[in-house]
Amino acid sequence: MPLIRDYIAEHERAMNFGGEAVRAIDRGDLDRARDLLGEMAAELTPHWQGEETGLFRVMAHEEMYAEHIAGLVREHRELAELLATVDIADHDGQQAIRDAVSDLYEHISKEEDGIFPASLTTLNGDQWGASIGAWHAAHPGRRMLQQ
Ligand SMILES: [Fe+2]
Ligand SMILES: [Fe+2]
Repeated sequence: MPLIRDYIAEHERAMNFGGEAVRAIDRGDLDRARDLLGEMAAELTPHWQGEETGLFRVMAHEEMYAEHIAGLVREHRELAELLATVDIADHDGQQAIRDAVSDLYEHISKEEDGIFPASLTTLNGDQWGASIGAWHAAHPGRRMLQQ
């Protein structure tokens, strides 16, 4: 399913930015770390919008997934808040970023091993249409990955 492939590619890019940001913090290159965290936020903002207004919204109609999805959305908001407010000149801020990148790894695993494969056997054609439409609305001017 192309949509899922795009979302997985976005996860990889966000994790790469996050991992590089942690390494930049570790070597004391805070300017580079700030740039990388900005890139990470720029990748995640449309990613989250696409998930939340598309795939997650239609999956949440299934009662057995609704609570799990609410937890995933909460994690999106927590990371967005951290990325918008963190001060990485501060030791606690640096640690918060290390923790957040490892939490993001867990979050992504929950999606790639849980809700994404579940969607493949759950959604009908109209629901895929709505999910793909939400991805396009969240990524104006971008094209989905080609085969
Ligand atoms: Fe997510
Ligand atoms: Fe995701």
